[in-house]
Amino acid sequence: MSQHPRPKFTYLGHATILCELPGGETVLIDPWVQNNPACPKELKELKRVDAVLITHAHGDHMGDAVEIAKKHRPKTVVANYEICNWLTQKGVENCAGMNLGGTQDVLGMQVTMVRADHSCGISDGDQTLYGGVASGYIVRLSGGFTFYHAGDTALFSDMQLLGEMYRPELAFLPIGDYYTMDPQQAARACRFLGVRKVIPIHWGTFPVLTGTPEKLVKALGDYGASCEVIGLKPGESY
Ligand code: NI
Ligand code: MN
Repeated sequence: MSQHPRPKFTYLGHATILCELPGGETVLIDPWVQNNPACPKELKELKRVDAVLITHAHGDHMGDAVEIAKKHRPKTVVANYEICNWLTQKGVENCAGMNLGGTQDVLGMQVTMVRADHSCGISDGDQTLYGGVASGYIVRLSGGFTFYHAGDTALFSDMQLLGEMYRPELAFLPIGDYYTMDPQQAARACRFLGVRKVIPIHWGTFPVLTGTPEKLVKALGDYGASCEVIGLKPGESY
C-alpha cells in the first residue's frame, strides 16, 4: 500500500479527469467539459486550470481545449507535436508538444507520453487534419505517487512494460468498447500494468459504449486478477 500523498481526482465524465495536486494546483486531463454531455452542470465552470494534458485530438477529448486554455491560461498544455502546432495556430499559449517515449516536467510532475493504439485525426471545420498519433500518459508526482491515463486505446501487451518500468498505483482505463477496449480487455490491462486500483473511463456517454464498471468487476473476477474497481460516476471524486 502506498503512503505517498496522492492527488484528488474528480471524474468530469467520459475521459475527462480533474486532478488536484497536494499543493493545490490542478491538472485537467482531456479537456472536454462544457460540451461534454456526461459532465454535471455545476462542474462545468472550472475554478482553476494550471496544466492540461491531451491524449489525442478527437473531439470527445479536446473539444473544449482552445476555450479552456484561453480562459484559464494554464502554465503548460501538453499534447503531441502535431496537436500542439494546431492549438498554437488557434491561439493557445504555452503548448509543450512532445512525442511517444518522451518525458517532461509539468508543475513538478514527471509526465511521460506513452503508446496508445488508436487514431488521432483533428476535426477542423469540415476537414480532418493529420494529428500525429494517439497517446496515454504516465504521471509521476514528486512524492512518488504514479498513475496512468490510457486515453483511448485497444489492449496491447506492452502495458506490461509500462507496469514494470513505472509501477503505477492507479490506472484510468477505457472500458466502453466500440472505440476502445472492452471490460474483458481492460481486465487483462489491469494485470499487465500490475495496478491495484482502476478507475473506468470512456463508458456510458453514448449508447455504443456498452462496457460498465460492473462488467469490469466481473471480468477481473473471471480472470482471477486482484484489482479494485473504483467506479466513479461523473462528478464524483477519489
Ligand atoms: Ni478517440
Ligand atoms: Mn474517445
